[in-house]
Amino acid sequence: SKINLKDYTKPSFDVDTVHLDIKLFEDYAQVDSTLEMVRQTAGDIVLFGESLELLTITMNGKVLTTEDYQQEAGKLTIYNVPERATLDIQVRICPQTNTALEGLYMAGSGDDTMFVTQCEPEGFRKITFYPDRPDVLAIFTTRLEADKRYPTLLANGNLVEAGEVADAPDRHYAIWHDPTNKPSYLFACVVADLDVLTDSYTTSEGREVLLELYAKSADIDKCDVGMQALKDAMKWDEVNYGRAYDLDRYMIVAVSQFNMGAMENKGLNIFNTACVLSSPETTTDARSFSVKAIIAHEYFHNWTGNRITCRDWFQLCLKEGFTVYRDQSFSADQQSSAVQRIDDVATLRAHQFSEDAGPLAHPVRPESFVEINNFYTTTVYEKGAEIVRMIANTLGPDDFRKGTDEYFRRYDGQAVTVEDFLSALSITDDKIENFIDWYRQPGTPVVSGSQTYDSTAQTLTITLNQQTRHVKGFDAPKPLPIPVATALFDKDSGAIVAERMLLLDEATQTFVFENVASEPVVSLLRDFSAPVQLNYDYQDADLAFLLKHETNGFNRWQVTQMLVNRILLQGQGVKSSPDVYLEALAQTLPVLSADDAMLAARLLDIPSAQELASAISKDYDPVLVKEQRDGLYKQVADKLKDQWAELYNNLPMQSYEDSAEARGIRALRNVVLDMALTANVDDAADWAKQQYDNASCMTERFGALKTMVNHQLAGADKYLADFYERFQANDLVIDLWFSVQAAADDVTPDMVKSLLTHTDFDWNTPNRVRSVVSAFSSQPTVLWTAEGLEMYTGVIQKLDDANPVLASRLLQVLARWNTLAEPRRQMAHEQLVDLQKNVSSKHVLESLESVLDAA
Ligand code: ARG
Ligand code: ZN
Repeated sequence: SKINLKDYTKPSFDVDTVHLDIKLFEDYAQVDSTLEMVRQTAGDIVLFGESLELLTITMNGKVLTTEDYQQEAGKLTIYNVPERATLDIQVRICPQTNTALEGLYMAGSGDDTMFVTQCEPEGFRKITFYPDRPDVLAIFTTRLEADKRYPTLLANGNLVEAGEVADAPDRHYAIWHDPTNKPSYLFACVVADLDVLTDSYTTSEGREVLLELYAKSADIDKCDVGMQALKDAMKWDEVNYGRAYDLDRYMIVAVSQFNMGAMENKGLNIFNTACVLSSPETTTDARSFSVKAIIAHEYFHNWTGNRITCRDWFQLCLKEGFTVYRDQSFSADQQSSAVQRIDDVATLRAHQFSEDAGPLAHPVRPESFVEINNFYTTTVYEKGAEIVRMIANTLGPDDFRKGTDEYFRRYDGQAVTVEDFLSALSITDDKIENFIDWYRQPGTPVVSGSQTYDSTAQTLTITLNQQTRHVKGFDAPKPLPIPVATALFDKDSGAIVAERMLLLDEATQTFVFENVASEPVVSLLRDFSAPVQLNYDYQDADLAFLLKHETNGFNRWQVTQMLVNRILLQGQGVKSSPDVYLEALAQTLPVLSADDAMLAARLLDIPSAQELASAISKDYDPVLVKEQRDGLYKQVADKLKDQWAELYNNLPMQSYEDSAEARGIRALRNVVLDMALTANVDDAADWAKQQYDNASCMTERFGALKTMVNHQLAGADKYLADFYERFQANDLVIDLWFSVQAAADDVTPDMVKSLLTHTDFDWNTPNRVRSVVSAFSSQPTVLWTAEGLEMYTGVIQKLDDANPVLASRLLQVLARWNTLAEPRRQMAHEQLVDLQKNVSSKHVLESLESVLDAA
């Protein structure tokens, strides 16, 4: 059933304190809880609970009977409650069979198991009956008891006591107390056998914090990058937001089975191993960089999410959008900020724009949902971050800081809303409140524009208009406040003659620049100042000019992307020949590769087939798009054919270093290698083999392997086998081994089927499932065939019951079936309708219903 934002009511009871006693046994766990509850408003106590076996429930010392309470559909309602109530509840749960990875679950198998929790958003109700909603804040004390096979017993807060269990020589316990008031979704505990990397950090307030990173003993040597990132993030939040850490201990635990990236539980983060472990030999630079970003993200949640939390799950973007903005800013300080912006915008365009254009479009703050897990989306996270960025840029650094200081001052310790956030940020400028419509309105605005130059008056007039598609079920779209960062370039000198932030907040507006001596080239949306699609009446030559003269690194990339889109998506409007683009690249690349190798590598980006598809709304032919994309890629490779050898040789392999410069060189070298193979440069196959054999790190080795596989180089199989052998013991590397095959250019459904039945394939490990299934979905020409789809929907059906969160996420990839050309469209429709008959989780059903609604 649907839950609506407008129906929000306060809970009738608050919880002051919670005592949990969790005893783990061989095939079940016993959870005893004591809740001190206090009445807030009239009404009954409403507790949520799922997959729990209720043993007893006592209120103020009296055992309750079915006369006193009612249990139905995940809810337990207790009647006739006085002002204060002490509830004692005993339940049994079964973490050993919990494959959904929500609540308390066992990860691993055989002798190699551990127990961890994932409570956001509604997993705590799978541990015990509780008012499991984010606006109920309480002080938690947790006692854990387990067999001594599991020496590591962790929960939120500070360790109070630990010891032996009387009369049970094999068992031990630990008691943890968290002094901060928190919602149940931030509860966590871990029962495991782990090693720990320890460090410390002294906060700006003088607090000595113990830092601990827990991992399996074989992985403990891959924890240094994460630990350093944690210390960097702690410092960064003090410097940039004035926020210091507030407990004496900060723990991170790595676990192999995890649905998402990581979780910000108070003082006890739990991380997918893929998002915390990193070493040069086993982790690519891109991965390692994202490890640092995710460590920072979860740390930043301590203030934006934990100390100030969400009133209800509709406000998810309040913590996620702001925290993503914060982690993006942190990352921008660790590398070239242009490259950071390019990568963030590329992700936004590839995934969020496509979500916003399809049947799963929803506002950054949704107004209704059936299953909140379906709304941990790129719209909530990434578009949410873009809104905060627009506000920050509109205010400027000083006023933004005043606003965030006010936010922390006003709402610390509370569960609040997006309106509260905007009201704090508005203290220096009440126009900021207008950004609320960005949170309410789905769809990506399209900003179109043109310019006229008056040589007599020496004025340049830019006319901009905005349009947003009308998404079914929502009000007609209103104009939004859209900051458009603009610079004018003199055509002769290439110098900037004017710079301004235009605020487009009506449907159509004109902006006049005075004293412009000759018609300039206009650069718009610099640094991607708003999450919109831009259509400006550029000539190809203007774009080539900007590629050369823009000082904004992000916009140099943006014009290459505009040129590529004009060439590849000709049906969509302007027709362009590749000549201008190829010539501009040929001129720019040699200079830039010496200057900023990472940026140079990005300039060679051609959007993925998936991303290109997301811009097509009708009669999408995956084969044609792939042909055109590959064709342009080949043209680039051929155009610069004479340069690849020199470029490659100018980027020699060196001993490993984790600096922005060294990462840039490695990234560019991999791109150049692939280009050289595409252009059939003599010896390029040998470069690849040598790069693999002599690699100093995974970026070099995997880059070479991927290229060999994609070019179906003779001998690639041998290298694949070598890679498997070398890294057999490392799950995360074997994930790479699976994904490079499943995403290969010549992959077939049969090849994927054989990966799915490989002895190392494991349905219970989401990373492994994604390494095959998500990797495969990056090849639309194979995905959108009868066989490909049958396999893909078969996977969703298989996971529907076991892990509905994962199943529903995988389904979202099929959202834009409706744009396919016939007969694929009809075929996809039939398979989705079939799938609907064979699934039962509300997660998958809600997504399917929206996806099919597109018909
Ligand atoms: N709050 C976590 C993060 O942003 C994500 C948790 C999502 N979990 C889920 N089951 N949907 O890092
Ligand atoms: Zn988050």
